[in-house]
Amino acid sequence: MYALEVKNLSFSYNEDKVLEDINFKVEDGEFISVIGPNGSGKSTLLKLINNLYKPKSGNVLIYDKDVSGYKAKDLAKRIAMVPQDTNIEYEFPVEDIVLMGRHPYISRFQKEDDEDYAIVNEALKLTNTSYLKGRNINRISGGERQRVLIAKAIAQNPDLILLDEPTSHLDINYQMEIFKLLKKLNENKKTTIILVVHDINLASRYSDRVILLKGGKVLGIGKPSEVINNDNIEKAYNLKVAVEKNLITNSIYVTPL
Ligand SMILES: Nc1ncnc2c1ncn2[C@@H]1O[C@H](COP(=O)(O)OP(=O)(O)OP(=O)(O)O)[C@@H](O)[C@H]1O
Ligand SMILES: [Mg+2]
Repeated sequence: MYALEVKNLSFSYNEDKVLEDINFKVEDGEFISVIGPNGSGKSTLLKLINNLYKPKSGNVLIYDKDVSGYKAKDLAKRIAMVPQDTNIEYEFPVEDIVLMGRHPYISRFQKEDDEDYAIVNEALKLTNTSYLKGRNINRISGGERQRVLIAKAIAQNPDLILLDEPTSHLDINYQMEIFKLLKKLNENKKTTIILVVHDINLASRYSDRVILLKGGKVLGIGKPSEVINNDNIEKAYNLKVAVEKNLITNSIYVTPL
């Protein structure tokens, strides 16, 4: 059984096609990066996987079941999503936001119990956000908010975490910390990770496989060394690059020329 199957998936917001006949499968426990230029359809793809939009054609299967067939709470036990736009409408303290990650596990007339709070505290600790617990989610920095939303996803304890540019507001130190944390979840808890990231070098260093999108189509999918080459990067970004192996990390490394 696959964690995720995307089959002949097409989508458009209006008349223009945004995703066109996308096909791929993800095994349980894989670490996948989605890369591609602005507007290539990366965020739209994640939203379709999380059942936020209905496909024009094709479908998304989560553990063999069409994503539209899950009850919201059951899907939330399977998938947690960290969105690209981290603005939050409501003025809640950070702790309450992370506690929302526990909602799929709490029935309507129940309250959070000690175990829920223990899980929340652990998630805050893992993302180094415990010090923000009582602060209003909208009055902390962009990078802090990104880490809090990752904590919420961790507290949700899903099989799959989808992250849309989770490190875009993070300093170089936290960028590394978050990638290492995701890798640890991936290795220790077998959490499947699918993340959108613009930093090709981070994608290649941490991912089992990379999906390269361009104009709503898959330009390449495979191991970083199979997808990240001069030809593909030039096709996708219209940019000449040097592709080398980084001798320290042993991963593919791209330098724009
Ligand atoms: N809500 C929307 N309504 C109409 N068009 C949209 C909407 N959201 C995105 N689009 C369009 O769909 C296409 C794909 O957008 P998407 O957000 O998926 O790209 P992306 O690869 O995530 O880009 P970025 O790297 O800038 O985040 C773009 O042409 C965009 O203008
Ligand atoms: Mg996007």
